[in-house]
Amino acid sequence: MSEPTRRDFLKTTSVATLGAGVLSSLSSGAYAAGEDTVRIGLVGCGGRGTGACAQALKSPGRVRLIAMGDVFRDQLDGSLRNVEKAVENDDSAEISVAEETKFTGFDAYKQVIDSGVDVVILATPPGFRPMMLEYAVEKGVHVFMEKPVATDAPGVRQVLAAAKKAKEKGLKIGVGLQRHHQAPYQEFVGRIHDGEFGDVRALRVYWNGGGVWDPRRTRDQVKSEMEYQLRNWYYYTWLCGDHICEQHIHNLDVGNWVMSKDGWQFPVKANGMGGREVRKDPKYGEIFDHHAVEYTYADGTVMMSQCRHIRNCWNSVTEHVHTTKGIVDFGGRRGGYGATLFSGEDIPYKGKSPDPYQVEHDDLFTAIREGKDYSEAEYGAMSTMTAILGRMCTYSGKEITMKDALERGIGIMPTDFSWDAKLPNAPDANGVYAVAVPGVTEVLEKA
Ligand SMILES: NC(=O)c1ccc[n+]([C@@H]2O[C@H](COP(=O)([O-])OP(=O)(O)OC[C@H]3O[C@@H](n4cnc5c(N)ncnc54)[C@H](O)[C@@H]3O)[C@@H](O)[C@H]2O)c1
Repeated sequence: MSEPTRRDFLKTTSVATLGAGVLSSLSSGAYAAGEDTVRIGLVGCGGRGTGACAQALKSPGRVRLIAMGDVFRDQLDGSLRNVEKAVENDDSAEISVAEETKFTGFDAYKQVIDSGVDVVILATPPGFRPMMLEYAVEKGVHVFMEKPVATDAPGVRQVLAAAKKAKEKGLKIGVGLQRHHQAPYQEFVGRIHDGEFGDVRALRVYWNGGGVWDPRRTRDQVKSEMEYQLRNWYYYTWLCGDHICEQHIHNLDVGNWVMSKDGWQFPVKANGMGGREVRKDPKYGEIFDHHAVEYTYADGTVMMSQCRHIRNCWNSVTEHVHTTKGIVDFGGRRGGYGATLFSGEDIPYKGKSPDPYQVEHDDLFTAIREGKDYSEAEYGAMSTMTAILGRMCTYSGKEITMKDALERGIGIMPTDFSWDAKLPNAPDANGVYAVAVPGVTEVLEKA
């Protein structure tokens, strides 16, 4: 079977159009000569891309990695070595990345997507996600993309539009918000939705920790401002979204999920405060080191959110749901998950905890093989937007509605992606970046 035909098969076959025999032969690997092989490509060969690639290769059935792309060749080579190591004992994982299908530079994503893959894994810094998703959908390729899926409102709108088009084309999209595939979350969000703990009254969500890696390159180790920001992408808002977007999205997304008993719900407004209290050195770019945001949902329920990147403080990466009967804790409950009711009843999570990073790939690849509807892009986009709304509030000091944020949020992406591009957020002559100032910084286009 030629490559495009194979991809078309994966793209258009639905359970309804397949006979049971064909389905069972697919899942049992009875297709001769590797015809049931799903071909994948990786864009963004860093830590998570490498992990996601290995997990995709280990998903049920035969999977072959055929192309890789990164702006930097050193990243690609390191990732390939690590993927090879990660799947060396897995018979159904194949790696066949020739020199001709190793792509570098800003167009590497197009070359990977055009190389005959059925599925592309998008794991670059999130600023690039919307344009890469849009291209994959245009080319009829299924997608696994890491969270967050954008860093500004125009990017979120672009993802929502691509998600709509993907559905029309029967393409499947997975998003790396793995708590949706994590057994204790599935069980306790389900039990909240079933009403076992009464009505939801309020939520608290946290990603408070010491921060991530220190800048990976100094100025004298790079050739341009673009390379400097890309190597140290976490500290630049157009690339990372600030840490409220890059990490805290996981916790905000759980809040949204809990509130979505009868269809997806996202906050309708927010206000917050934040700043750069400790991590002030210009080598830390332009992002804040703390944000605290109060989100309000349509029914008046409030979600209090905190995220911090400051060492030697109280740490917590957890979500807590206050209900009329007690509190449900996702983490932070003697280290675990469960409910503590006002009646005195204690309900710990007792089930198994398979690795959610593996399960999310098993679920996506099974949907692709079986032609089942599968789209995590819409809630992934709106949970990303929830985080961006919070950042817009902490940067501006204003209360902002989700509607205004989504429709009028100022775009922060550069338009020129080249090594000598003039970046809109370039530093001053002393290498100091402009940092948002609450009460001064504008985040909305004029109405
Ligand atoms: N779901 C999770 O729990 C989880 C955990 C870690 C990271 N992530 C997400 O994965 C993504 C990547 O994070 P990471 O920790 O792997 O970062 P990383 O820095 O290790 O890797 C990013 C890679 O992307 C490459 N890159 C940058 N711009 C590119 C472009 N335009 N085209 C091609 N390649 C490009 C970089 O060179 C680098 O190799 C982020 O969105 C992050 O939020 C998710």
